[in-house]
Amino acid sequence: MRSFLFVPADSAKKLDKAMTSGADALIVDLEDSIALDGKARARQSAAAFLREAMAAPRRPYLLVRVNGLQTGLTDADLDTVAPAKPDAIMLPKAEGGAAVTHADAKLAVREALNGLPDGAIKILPIATETGSALFLMGTFAGASTRLIGLTWGAEDLSAELGARANRDAQNRFLDPYRLARALCLAGAAAAQVPAIDTVYVDFRDDKGFRRECEEACRDGFVGKMAIHPAQLPIINEVFTPSAEALARAQEIVDAFTQNPGAGVVAIGGAMYDRPHLARAERLLAGAKASTRSN
Ligand code: COA
Ligand code: MG
Repeated sequence: MRSFLFVPADSAKKLDKAMTSGADALIVDLEDSIALDGKARARQSAAAFLREAMAAPRRPYLLVRVNGLQTGLTDADLDTVAPAKPDAIMLPKAEGGAAVTHADAKLAVREALNGLPDGAIKILPIATETGSALFLMGTFAGASTRLIGLTWGAEDLSAELGARANRDAQNRFLDPYRLARALCLAGAAAAQVPAIDTVYVDFRDDKGFRRECEEACRDGFVGKMAIHPAQLPIINEVFTPSAEALARAQEIVDAFTQNPGAGVVAIGGAMYDRPHLARAERLLAGAKASTRSN
């Protein structure tokens, strides 16, 4: 999955539009885009949407962003949305693997109560939203079999740090957020799950957005979250490997196949060794998996 579109749960119009937006996944939001006195209504709207959308013949992957474990709202969120069996929940302000294990237990109860298979609903945490969370980025491995990836956020983190901004005048992330981003990549690799890049809130700045997608793809993220439908074609394009990149990867794999036992090969004047082979195999496997799911 490359593109994840946030949609406020209280907007039937946006939810409807999102279904045909071209997003690989939708994140129906009960958290930051919903005011406190609108939570109950938003839960009902999310559940009604999910009941219909989950049955659609062609649909994006469907997540619900619940409120964080610290808020006291998570149980009511899950009570309302779990019966509609979303593919996954997004867990914001997650503090390490322990938070995922905690959410796993909460989901297991709802699955049992609603006759759903154990483990049916997966978890995608936003793993960098508090100061403490940054120090727990290496703890996701083995936290839950529900874990499908890791993503990161800079908005809540900057509020927590007391910062005045999280990006510079060119819209590039400042140091504390680049650290969070790098820890997301490392934490995901340690837990052997994909890393998903964070949102770009300036949704009219296509140029800056494309640059950020390209940098994310280069650094190892497999996809990116969006807040506006106009961001989706850019994400889908950038995170789909080009024919040239696939051909290059195939060339590397072929060179090693033709030289069994070789630790290193030369192609076109450049050296390729085992890490290059692993990277090429990963690119080809990712492309094969996305063809299967389309
Ligand atoms: N999902 C689905 N549809 C969306 C959308 C979204 N996230 N964002 C915008 N749209 C729709 C609009 O409803 C509008 O539809 P219309 O042409 O039928 O009227 C169309 O896309 C164009 O929208 P536009 O006028 O450019 O933007 P806006 O001013 O209506 O909305 C935001 C701007 C930021 C309020 C909106 O994009 C949004 O709600 N984004 C998600 C916010 C969110 O979930 N935040 C939490 C995560 S950080
Ligand atoms: Mg937030």
